[in-house]
Amino acid sequence: MASGQPAPPSGNSAALTQLLIERIDAIGPIRFSEYVAEALYNPDFGFYATGGRAGRRGDFITSAEVGPLFGLCIGRYLDKVWSELGQPSEFVVIEAGAGPGTLARSVLAGAPACLPALRYMAVEISAGQRELHPQGIESVAALPADGAVHVVLANELLDNLPFDIVERTADGWSEVHVDAVDGALVETLLGNKNSSALFPSTSPLGARVPVIDAAREWCDQVVDRVDSGRVLVLDYASPTSVIVEEPEGNWVRTYRANERGVDPLLAAGSQDITTQIPVEQLRSVAGHLLTVRSQAELLGDLGIDELVAEGKTIWAERAHLGDLEAMKARSRVSEAETLLDPDGLGGFIAFEWRVPK
Ligand SMILES: C[S@@+](CC[C@H](N)C(=O)[O-])C[C@H]1O[C@@H](n2cnc3c(N)ncnc32)[C@H](O)[C@@H]1O
Repeated sequence: MASGQPAPPSGNSAALTQLLIERIDAIGPIRFSEYVAEALYNPDFGFYATGGRAGRRGDFITSAEVGPLFGLCIGRYLDKVWSELGQPSEFVVIEAGAGPGTLARSVLAGAPACLPALRYMAVEISAGQRELHPQGIESVAALPADGAVHVVLANELLDNLPFDIVERTADGWSEVHVDAVDGALVETLLGNKNSSALFPSTSPLGARVPVIDAAREWCDQVVDRVDSGRVLVLDYASPTSVIVEEPEGNWVRTYRANERGVDPLLAAGSQDITTQIPVEQLRSVAGHLLTVRSQAELLGDLGIDELVAEGKTIWAERAHLGDLEAMKARSRVSEAETLLDPDGLGGFIAFEWRVPK
């Protein structure tokens, strides 16, 4: 589990822990995914309902939060798809799990060619974060049920959707559940997960793997929702064979105030809980999986080098002015380094589905 000093739950966390203990006392151990759903999204005490968010003044830094360069690249991606679709007069883009709207803000500020046609909808479950969304977009709590959609984007959403964990036992793969013992939440293994085809049969006893059913179902849903266009999701992901070899604390990660948090069961609601995405589990999404490439490859294909070169030129021309435009241009160099770092954000995986299949 995640590193850090265990601290007894307090405030909201104590209240949520107590609520879960009462539920478990009444109905028995709950699945790990149910625990994650409550810890992150309980409407009164969940991490995202009580102010958790991306950003330098938030809890974790994403590509969107590194600076505007990521949004400039995504703007180029949108232009590419818009052109491929014959430049529709209304181009509907849904960004799911949009957080405080930072990516949307950068896309709009970058003024892509598709901007006059762009209808950008930001879907964010947390009301507090929706309030931070910029003007010029539509801000909604859930995916719209109908209407044309050309592109669905999601950056670091899937790792945040409730997931389960299975452990290899002598009888197969058992599911981690959450029980209540002596006033504390503890893990217990129950049942057998009958999808062992997804897990390496050679795994030693005690090996663990995340099961991302909610993330896979979400991808199925959005691929189905797009009429003609693309779904692009970016997240930290690895082959199951890599995940299964690593200690769980390396792939179930918790964050708060831009630092790693504590064990997921110790601070319900006061920290983010995320999982590395096992690549194979998204391959079964019922669409035409076009590409699986690293974020560095995706951004390279979108011309990030050109944008950095352009930034250097602007800086050379405007450095003597020292104005905001000059500073922004100069910062493209360091932003690109961060976004392309193979051991960091550059190593994230971009899954792209083409619709229709
Ligand atoms: C890790 S943050 C990423 C934020 C942003 N995409 C970024 O890259 O900075 C994940 C966001 O997804 C939101 N979220 C989780 N489940 C959601 C759902 N089912 N629908 C919409 N938003 C959701 C969370 O509230 C959170 O703001």
